[in-house]
Amino acid sequence: MTKYNRSNKPASSEITPQGVYLSRRQLIKGVTAVGGLALLWAARPKMPGSDLETVEVISTPAGTLTEGAGSIAPTAMPTPVTDELGMDLTSLTDITGYNNYYEFTTDKTEVARLSKNFNTSPWQVEVGGHVSKPGIYDIDDLRTKFDQEERIYRLRCVEAWSMVIPWLGFPLHKLLAEVEPTAKAKYVRFETLADESQMPGISAPWYDWPYVEGLRLDEAMHDLTLLSTGIYGESLQPQNGAPIRLVVPWKYGFKSIKSIVKIELVEDMPVSLWMAAGPREYGFYSNVNPEVDHPRWSQATERRIGSSGRIQTIKFNGYEEQVAHLYAGMDLKANF
Ligand code: MTE
Repeated sequence: MTKYNRSNKPASSEITPQGVYLSRRQLIKGVTAVGGLALLWAARPKMPGSDLETVEVISTPAGTLTEGAGSIAPTAMPTPVTDELGMDLTSLTDITGYNNYYEFTTDKTEVARLSKNFNTSPWQVEVGGHVSKPGIYDIDDLRTKFDQEERIYRLRCVEAWSMVIPWLGFPLHKLLAEVEPTAKAKYVRFETLADESQMPGISAPWYDWPYVEGLRLDEAMHDLTLLSTGIYGESLQPQNGAPIRLVVPWKYGFKSIKSIVKIELVEDMPVSLWMAAGPREYGFYSNVNPEVDHPRWSQATERRIGSSGRIQTIKFNGYEEQVAHLYAGMDLKANF
C-alpha cells in the first residue's frame, strides 16, 4: 500500500528551494514539450469542457521522463519530485497560474490576478449540523491543532486536464472526530464564502452561489480526504482556495471545494452547485472514471498540465485500491 502520510518528514520545499524545483521543471519541459505552451494557455470557457483541445493521444504517461529516472536529473535530490506512480510534480507556476475559481472569473489564467487581494484573515470555519459538539474554528487554530502533512496527489479536472500537487494539510476525519457526528449524519455539506464585494464572478447569474459540494460520510472520513492549507510547503494562495480547501483526489476536481466557511453534517444528499447547474452532466459522486464519458466529451484521457500530448486516465484517478470498497455493488454509470 502506498504511503501517503509524510507528516514526520519536512515539506519538499524545505529541502528543495522552489527555484530548484522550477529550474528542473524548465529543463525537463525543454526536453519534452513540443508546442505545449500554446495549448496550455487556451482561452477559458463558461462551462467546464468547452476548452477541450483535440491533440494526439499517446499511450504512455507524459511524465515518463521523470527527474528520478531521467539522465538529465541531478542526483543529489533528497526529496521525491514525482508522485508514487512516478509522475512529475506540476510546477508551482502552473499550479498557481491555471485555476478554476468561478467566484472570481471563468478565465483560468486570470484567477490569480483577480483574487490577489482576497482577504483570508481573519477566517473562520463553522462546523455544525448533526454533531454533538458544533464549533467555530479559527484558521490559525486549525493550522496548529492538527499536524500539517505533505501529500502528493493527482488532481484530475472534469475538463480532462490534470496536475500533480504537493498539498499541505490534514485529513478531514480529524476535524469530524472533534465535532462528533451523530447517528443522523449521513453526508457532509461544504460551502465556500460568497462575498460579492471581493469576488467579481459572483455577479454571474447562471450559478446558484454559494459554491456547495458534498461527500457521503464514509467518503469524508476516508484518510485520503484532505483539508488543505498549503502547496509546496507554503500557505495556499487565493487562486488555489486560501485559506482552506478540500482535496478529494479520486474525484473530479470540482468536488475539491475552495475557501471553505461552513461544514455541515446532514441527513440528506447535498445538492452541489454543479448538480444544480447541470444535473445531466454533473452527479453527486463524480468519481474519476475513464469508462464513463461526460455527455459532451470522453473521459478516457487527460492532458497533464506542463507536458505535451495526452495520458490515459486511471479509474479513481489511481486510488482504486484505497477507495473502490466505498462503492462496492454500486452501478458507477448510474451513480456518476
Ligand atoms: N471551488 C470553488 N469555490 N469554486 C470553483 O470554481 N472549481 C473547482 C475546484 N474547487 C472551484 C472550486 C474545479 S472545477 C477544480 S478543477 C479545482 O477547484 C481546481 O483547483 P485549482 O485551481 O487549485 O487547481
